[in-house]
Amino acid sequence: MRIVLGVSGGIAAYKAALVLRLLTEGGHQVRVVPTAAALHFVGAATWEALSGQPVTSEVWDEVPSVNHVRLGQEADLVLVAPATADLLARAAHGIADDLLTNTLLTARCPVVMAPAMHTEMWQHPATVANVALLRERGVTVIEPDSGRLTGVDTGPGRLPEPEEIVRAALERVEAGTEGGSAHELDGAAGQQDLSGRHVLVSAGGTREALDPVRFLGNRSSGKQGYAVAAEAARRGARVTLASANVELPVPEGCTVVPVESARELQEVVTGAVAGGDVDVVLMAAAVADFRPAHYVGTKIKKTHGEGDESAPVVELVRNPDILAGLVTDRGGASTPYIVGFAAETGDESGDVITHARAKLRRKGCDLLVANEVGVDKTFGEDSSTVHILRPGSEDVVSVGPAPKTQIAQAIWDAVAPELP
Ligand code: CTP
Repeated sequence: MRIVLGVSGGIAAYKAALVLRLLTEGGHQVRVVPTAAALHFVGAATWEALSGQPVTSEVWDEVPSVNHVRLGQEADLVLVAPATADLLARAAHGIADDLLTNTLLTARCPVVMAPAMHTEMWQHPATVANVALLRERGVTVIEPDSGRLTGVDTGPGRLPEPEEIVRAALERVEAGTEGGSAHELDGAAGQQDLSGRHVLVSAGGTREALDPVRFLGNRSSGKQGYAVAAEAARRGARVTLASANVELPVPEGCTVVPVESARELQEVVTGAVAGGDVDVVLMAAAVADFRPAHYVGTKIKKTHGEGDESAPVVELVRNPDILAGLVTDRGGASTPYIVGFAAETGDESGDVITHARAKLRRKGCDLLVANEVGVDKTFGEDSSTVHILRPGSEDVVSVGPAPKTQIAQAIWDAVAPELP
C-alpha cells in the first residue's frame, strides 16, 4: 500500500518514527511528509533513512513531479501522527500552505489523524469544532489517550501507542472508502451489535438558572456519557446525544442536541422517545433534582440601598424525574430499553451497591450503572469504577478503576444482548 505519513510539530513526533517502522515492516511504501515545525523535533535525515524516500515539507521542492497534487492522489492511506491543534485547524478549514495540507486536500483515500496536544488545547471549543467538522467529512480522528503529557501535567491529549495508531489506520483502510459515512466504515471493522438501533444518550450536567448570570449546577464533565455515545456509534448505532453543558469533542457518528436545564433535557428526551424509533435511552446526565422557584430576569443585586446587609433566600422547586417519567410512560408509542445511572457514595446506612439496588427498585429501569463518586472521584476524571445491576438478579458486574471508554464497552456488552 502507498501511505503518506504526515507528521506535524509536536513532541510526540518522535513516536511517529515507530509508526513509520511498523508500516514499513508491514511491507508498505511510506512517504513521510513532515510540517516545517515537525522538523524541529525530528529531522529530515531520520525520516529519509527510515522510509528510504525523499522528505520535504514544501511544495517548492521536486516541482516537476507536482508533488503537492500527486502524493495525495496516489496514496491509499494518509495517516497524520501526531496531528497538532494547528494541523487539525488547517485541515478542517481547507488551508493548503505546505505539502502536508496540500496532500490532505488532494487525497481521495481514507484519512486518519491521531491528535496529540495539551489537554487545554484538545478541549478548546475551536479544536472541538474542528474535530467535529473533520469527522463529519469522513476523516477518522482517533481519540487521544490520557496520561502524562510533556511536562508534569496529565490528561487527555497523549498520542496513542504506535501499534494502536497503525491498527486503527489499517482497519479504516480495510473498511474501504465507498458506500457510507466514516462512522459506518469504522464500525464495519469491529463489533456491530447495535447496527440498526437508535440510541439516545444524555450526558453532562444540567444548569438551573437563577438570574441571567447565575445557575445551580453540578460537577459532571460529560466524559462517561460521551464515551458511551462514542462506543454505541462504533458498534453501528445511530446516536443522538442530548448534551448538557459539555465541552468535549463531538464523538464520531453522534448527533448532538445541546440542552441547558433539566426541563430542556426532558423535552428532548421525551420528544425523541415519542417519535417512536428510540431503542435505548441511556441517562448518563446528572440532572438537577431542584431548580430555583423563580427566575429573576435581571441580575440579582447584592444590596438594595445603603446599609442593606440582607441575603436573598432562594426557594427551590422539584424538577421532573426524567428517567422515572420514561419508565411510567412505557408501553406508549415506543418502549425503549432504559438505562439509569446512579452517582453514589457509601454511607452509614449502606455501601454503594446497597444504595444502587434500592435506586434500581425505585426507578424501575432495565439496567442501572452505579458509579462511585466523591470529591476526588469520577467527576472530570478519565477513569472510574462502576457496578452494573439488573432488576431481579443478585449478580453485579463491577468494572474498574478503568478508563471511561472501557466502562462504556462494558455497559454496551451488558445492554446489547438484552435488546429484543
Ligand atoms: N435523573 C433524571 N431526572 C432527574 C434526576 C435524575 O432522569 N430529575 C436520572 C439520572 O440521569 C440518572 C438517574 O436518574 O440516570 C439517577 O440519578 P440520581 O441523581 O443518582 O438519582 P436521584 O433519583 O436523584 O436520587 P438521589 O436521591 O440519590 O439524588
